[in-house]
Amino acid sequence: MDNSSDRPARRRRYSGRNPQNFQDKYKEHRSEAFPDDIAKVLDRGQTPAGMHRPIMVPEILDALKLVPGNVAVDCTVGYGGHAGEMLLAIQPGGRFLGVDADPLELAKSECRLRALVAHDASIELRRMNYAGLSTFLTEQAPDGADALLADLGVSSMQLDDPERGFSFKFDGPLDMRMNPQRGLSASEWLSTIDQTTLSRTLFENSDEANAETIAQAILVAHSRQPLCTTFALVQVIHSSVAKLSEPDQNMTVRRVFQAIRIAVNDELRSLDAFLRQLPYWMKKGGRIVILTFHSGEDRRVKSAFKQGFQEGLYSYVTQEVIRASAAEQRSNGRSSSAKLRVAIRS
Ligand SMILES: C[S@@+](CC[C@H](N)C(=O)[O-])C[C@H]1O[C@@H](n2cnc3c(N)ncnc32)[C@H](O)[C@@H]1O
Repeated sequence: MDNSSDRPARRRRYSGRNPQNFQDKYKEHRSEAFPDDIAKVLDRGQTPAGMHRPIMVPEILDALKLVPGNVAVDCTVGYGGHAGEMLLAIQPGGRFLGVDADPLELAKSECRLRALVAHDASIELRRMNYAGLSTFLTEQAPDGADALLADLGVSSMQLDDPERGFSFKFDGPLDMRMNPQRGLSASEWLSTIDQTTLSRTLFENSDEANAETIAQAILVAHSRQPLCTTFALVQVIHSSVAKLSEPDQNMTVRRVFQAIRIAVNDELRSLDAFLRQLPYWMKKGGRIVILTFHSGEDRRVKSAFKQGFQEGLYSYVTQEVIRASAAEQRSNGRSSSAKLRVAIRS
């Protein structure tokens, strides 16, 4: 009898002691089964493949002031690092509601979160854009939320997986969608826009000083042969700013990737819609925490909180942005650009 389909898949061969490719780091993808290996990666100040290190956890928990029985909402579950802490803090009797746009990662995070608590009914997760949270909350928390967190941007799992096409560091399909089952990939999006739109996108989303030159180079190259991979895009950006020093060229690549990702996922429009509705989702005294990594996002959060305070919708809003501690910034570089703001519903 041929039972070859029952055999576990063979681990791929790689040279050297440790795997270098994202998909080959099989121990890091199964953190529960290999805790010692995960601890070693974390001790080196790195993020294991398939994982996201939650940022500013003590500051966020301090601001949310969760107690047992609370209704807590995480609008950006990601790996579930913050979500897990929130879930545990509201036990017993609490209700945790979590959403994320990414169907691939949310399914894995749901298993991790459900394993944390005995009472399954206390968790409800949904794949959705947080701009559409109203319908979910009307159904699941008609009296409003006691606490809500949004940790904006992309997760390490999305960035580090070459197949998702978010990172200029790895070659992969030029995709960048948080939900790869919806909308246009970055490569398809480039086919739909003109030079003025692309130039404006690079300038508005990333303050790119050479936006016009880069936009022209990208669209000329794309019209000759569609840019279908991340490295193809990286190459065009480098050639378009060849006069700059190498570090400046690398910074340009980083900014262009960020600007295109924001456009492909319509991130700023979603954030605007989210901020407009946010106060009406909260109970009186409900606490909101938003963590941003991009100046355009932080400006929007700051201005929406200020306006809400002036209109009497919030009784308190952060005056000075809160930053990660020096120790966290040293141990996790991704935390150094994080800006945290808090608002309390009046
Ligand atoms: C920085 S990660 C969150 C990490 C998470 N706090 C943790 O501890 O693992 C941001 C997450 O937000 C999600 N996201 C971004 N924009 C979104 C949107 N408009 N609606 C829903 N989820 C979104 C991304 O898919 C990603 O998983």
